[in-house]
Amino acid sequence: MSDIGTGGLALREKLIFEHSRPGRSGCRLPQLDVPAAHLPPDLERDGIDGFPEVSEVEVVRHFTRLSSWNYGVDSGFYPLGSCTMKYNPKVNEAAARIRGLALLHPYTPVELCQGALALIHHLEELLGEISGFPAVSLHPAAGAHGELAGMMVIRACHEKRGNPRRKVLIPDTAHGTNPASATLCGYEVTPLESDGFLSAATVAAAMDEETAAVMITNPNTLGLFEKEIGAICAAVHAKGGLVYCDGANLNALLGLSRPGDAGIDVMHFNLHKTFSTPHGGGGPGAGPIGVTKELEPFLPLPRIVREGERYLFDYDRPDSIGRLRAFYGNFAILVRAYTYIRMLGAAGLRQAAEMAVLNANYIRSGLEGHYHLPHPQRSLHEVVFSDQHLEGDCHTIDVAKRLIDLGFHPPTVYFPLVVKGALMVEPTETETRESLDEFCEAMVRIAEEAKTSPGLLKEAPRRTIVRRLDEVLAARKPRLRWRRENS
Ligand SMILES: Cc1ncc(COP(=O)(O)O)c(C=O)c1O
Repeated sequence: MSDIGTGGLALREKLIFEHSRPGRSGCRLPQLDVPAAHLPPDLERDGIDGFPEVSEVEVVRHFTRLSSWNYGVDSGFYPLGSCTMKYNPKVNEAAARIRGLALLHPYTPVELCQGALALIHHLEELLGEISGFPAVSLHPAAGAHGELAGMMVIRACHEKRGNPRRKVLIPDTAHGTNPASATLCGYEVTPLESDGFLSAATVAAAMDEETAAVMITNPNTLGLFEKEIGAICAAVHAKGGLVYCDGANLNALLGLSRPGDAGIDVMHFNLHKTFSTPHGGGGPGAGPIGVTKELEPFLPLPRIVREGERYLFDYDRPDSIGRLRAFYGNFAILVRAYTYIRMLGAAGLRQAAEMAVLNANYIRSGLEGHYHLPHPQRSLHEVVFSDQHLEGDCHTIDVAKRLIDLGFHPPTVYFPLVVKGALMVEPTETETRESLDEFCEAMVRIAEEAKTSPGLLKEAPRRTIVRRLDEVLAARKPRLRWRRENS
């Protein structure tokens, strides 16, 4: 089998502080030819203890070496479930760097940035058409920020109706950020059990006049489409509640199903997942929300409106939840998403979703029999395995670490929580059949190694510069800044 994890000259690298030598410098400043200005003495300090003194070549090599330790979608397969690490076409980057867009100052008067406003307005319309919602706001800066915005909209609507209500129902297959968003909006969270699919009967039994909303992730974190979504919406609406959909997994539905048509009231998109963007490590992103006509007045300020051929900011919206952030969203991410949607068109988006589902199921059948499948039915864009049948006392974490040795980024591990020892694989549509085959070969090899030489898994990763770390210690006692030894 191919072994793409071997080889290469990976250079070890010290901390920049350890390179430091007194008096060494990377630049020479010209002689001062103006009078020296001084800050007030209480703002001045003699020096910074331990500040690295290094030459230019040391700085360049230091950061170049560190950058070569990186792994990204441009270097290899990145099956991190729930994160949709699809390849980001370079044309998106080219569009985001167009000078007139990239250098636009956020305080540019509206008359001078009509092109950018037109792009934002058109992107809102396109997202509305894709999802089935009549109104979309691009303000939120991430998926979880979209959840917060959506739940604030729900609260504002209930307040307007006379009672904000107290509770929000969230199934066990929802994304972990959902309960946090509901709690931040002042709601108590009631968890709902499901067997992989949430049943309308469970929702109807839990609904009452104090329940503000149900927050449902669809497709859910098991990669399954909530088959009873229409009946769930009806049960919630019957008691005056609203339905929030975490639409971060929309990649599986593009052109196939529109959440707005199912009766959902609010949904957020993760543009940085569904519509490509280099992401990971916490950003940048964009988490727009789509809402029904009834909820439109509550959307964040300002709205961009079109009057004839002109685009304007509309602040005159008394029911709005107000401003969510500075300016108007993460604009460069919006440009990338817009480019992606326009490049693919309707047929291309649908094909992307179909390919994402096909690729996930290709991996499912490639690994069936080698890894335990807690939910044997066909999934959509991602597939969840568990470590239940793994031999040699090997566990999910050992598989993940051994994959690194074989040249793959590990899948998401131990999530979703409803599956013990979960390994959640999301290949996305952008992978070739060859890379899916290589990944399956590596996974099968690891399952075999667990039987025959479990030490290979237990000691992995062996080919990386940094071996297996004590993640618990790192989380409990993080060392976030360098200090001189013995200080
Ligand atoms: C299903 C789901 N919901 C919400 C989020 C939160 O999105 P973000 O990380 O942009 O806040 C994610 C993140 O990947 C997700 O997968």
